[in-house]
Order: sequence, then C-alpha cells, then structure tokens
Amino acid sequence: MPKTLNDLKAKNRAWAAGKIAVDPGFFKRLEGQQAPEYLWIGCSDSRVPANEIVGLDPGELFVHRNVANLAPPQDANYLSVLQFAVDVIKVKHILVVGHYGCGGVAAAVDGQRRGLVDHWLHPIREVHQDHHHEIDALPDQKAKWDRLVELNVVRQVKNVASDVFVQDAWARGQPLCVHGWVYTLGTGIVTDLDVSVSGPEDLAEFAD
Ligand code: CO
Repeated sequence: MPKTLNDLKAKNRAWAAGKIAVDPGFFKRLEGQQAPEYLWIGCSDSRVPANEIVGLDPGELFVHRNVANLAPPQDANYLSVLQFAVDVIKVKHILVVGHYGCGGVAAAVDGQRRGLVDHWLHPIREVHQDHHHEIDALPDQKAKWDRLVELNVVRQVKNVASDVFVQDAWARGQPLCVHGWVYTLGTGIVTDLDVSVSGPEDLAEFAD
C-alpha cells in the first residue's frame, strides 16, 4: 500500500499554481477571512462536488455533506455547521441539494440491512411512509426513487427552515433563504424544486 499519494500531491501543487497564475493574491485573500454567502447541505456522493457544480471558488461556499443530504435536528455535526453558518458567517442562502440516483435514498427503502447506516437513513423511511400512496402509484422503481429523492429534499428544507437557529435569525431580521435543489448526475444540471423558504410566513404554508 503506497503511503505517499504523490499523484494527489502533484495535482495539488498544479492546482495551487494555476490559481496563483490567474490571481496572484488568491490564497492570501482567502487566508484573511471566510465570508461565503451560501451554505450547501449535500450528499457525500463523490459525483456531486459542491463548489464545482455551481462554479464557485474556495471561500464562496460553506459545505456540509453526509449520506443522502439529511438535516436531522438531533445531529450535532449538522447543527454545528448550521449555527456557525447562520450566526457567525451569516450566510444569506442555505441550499439543500439532493441528487437523482442517490444510493442512500434507495438504500433507505430497499429492505436490505447494512448496519449503522440503516439508522442514519431512518428519516427517509419516514418521508416514504408519509408519501407512500403517491410513490406507490409511480410506474417503475427509478421513478419511485427519484420522487423519494425530491421528497427527501423538501423534508430537509423544512427541517432547516424550522430549526431554532434559522427561526431566531429571521426573528432578528437577518435575511436568510432556504432552497431545495436536485442535481442530475447524467447532465450536471440542478433543478430548483421551488420550495424556497425565506421567512416564517413561507414555512406556515409549507407542505411536505
Ligand atoms: Co447520494
């Protein structure tokens, strides 16, 4: 087993040199402060690289990724990221980004047992249960999973928007909008599910 990963180090040197070639002050500026306007909550899937998809540089996107882009209100990791993003960085937008073909979403409902991840994916089984009439009526397995991907994003948008950190931000007049997107692996294109929540009044009308 190689211990050096020299190929990755070489890529790193080339990447840093490329950045400096275009903008000599790039890293020095980033070192000074972190002030992104966006928090991305996305899947850990290696095919969904947050910054690249939206064409943003380091420093422009605060990122939290986990299996199946969940925002569970008991998860200290997610909550820590959310609070820091909202209270300290004061991001203006939070994007919950799922993706079609998500293995985590499929694994939640395929009936197989994998261990700890089955517990992590429990919230998706709840979404599935709440919408099983709609999902069961779809013609094929792919359509069922794709719809569950969308419904999971919508549920996570609700989780984020109803969190006390976000509620408190709105109460003190801080501008903040929570969005739900789905990314298509085969095209590289994101779809806005049009469930954006920018205040308590939006949340009151929110259907998930
Ligand atoms: Co995924």
